[in-house]
Amino acid sequence: MKTEILALLRERGDYVSGQEICERFGVSRTAVWKAIELLKKEGYSIEAVRNRGYRLLNTDDVYNENELSQRIRTKWAGRPVRFFESIGSTNIQAKLEAENGAAHGTLIVADMQTAGRGRRGREWNSPSGANLYFTLILKPEFLPDKASMLTLVMAYAVGRGIERTLGQTVSVATPGIKWPNDIVINGKKVCGILTEMSAERDYIQYVVIGCGINVSKQGFPPEIAEKATFIEAECGRKISRSLLLADIMEAFEEEYGEFLATESLKGLKEKYNAMLVNCGREVCVLDPQGEYRGTARGINDTGELLVELPDKRLQEVYAGEVSVRGIYGYV
Ligand code: BTN
Repeated sequence: MKTEILALLRERGDYVSGQEICERFGVSRTAVWKAIELLKKEGYSIEAVRNRGYRLLNTDDVYNENELSQRIRTKWAGRPVRFFESIGSTNIQAKLEAENGAAHGTLIVADMQTAGRGRRGREWNSPSGANLYFTLILKPEFLPDKASMLTLVMAYAVGRGIERTLGQTVSVATPGIKWPNDIVINGKKVCGILTEMSAERDYIQYVVIGCGINVSKQGFPPEIAEKATFIEAECGRKISRSLLLADIMEAFEEEYGEFLATESLKGLKEKYNAMLVNCGREVCVLDPQGEYRGTARGINDTGELLVELPDKRLQEVYAGEVSVRGIYGYV
């Protein structure tokens, strides 16, 4: 019942009398009081004023399952959402749940991870109370060879989500994409994405897309400050993790719809390239068969990076095979 009371207070945005809550849900005054106390324990600030009733104050700081499920306004992306105070890795949990029948769109979120994993077997620093760690479960019907493009769809959605959450402060902290799927602000990484899939030759069992986004300072290791940053440092104000995650899910759902229409990045390519920080820059392609340099020209319909070589030929670079580095640093 506390969820329903919370939803009512949120919707009203003003005082709701104890009497009205009792009548609406057919419960006693004591039951209402108990539910309010429980909500306060979950972190909600609720004002109680004699003769006026209860009023919900700003919930931006609240980060839990209730808050997330009420803020996520999508049809399917991020529904249901499962929240863990602490977990090994949201990707591992997502794979487990996907194996056990979790629905397409299920979102696994944690406040902290004890065994957060990055790409290439690296560790992902995951302290509590600071950042976003989440994994989205997808059960698409297209062929497995298309799945790698989903990482780029998520990268763009994270960028869009950050833009929406930042609103006007976006001008000092504009998110960009470092191909294929790192999000950077002012040249430093704020988000990494780890996509994993279970599939047979012509059938995807599931895809899980895990994102780690550095939001605030708590637990940020100074030794990575040259290459990485957190959103609050760049925009200079507090960011609501629940709002940011809801904005990302909304952006992902929109872009996924467009992706499905062509099973390619045709519809997203232009927007993605506009956010791509590598575009027009010199890059060094770390191909295991030999490094080479060229100018990045954006992605094609299937997500490969087009690199213009000194003789003007365009080389398609596949994300799985090579990394791309800016010649002067990380971007
Ligand atoms: C990278 O190396 O850039 C990818 C980092 C991905 C980290 C996220 S945090 C949530 C999810 N759970 C994990 O264990 N990893 C991903």
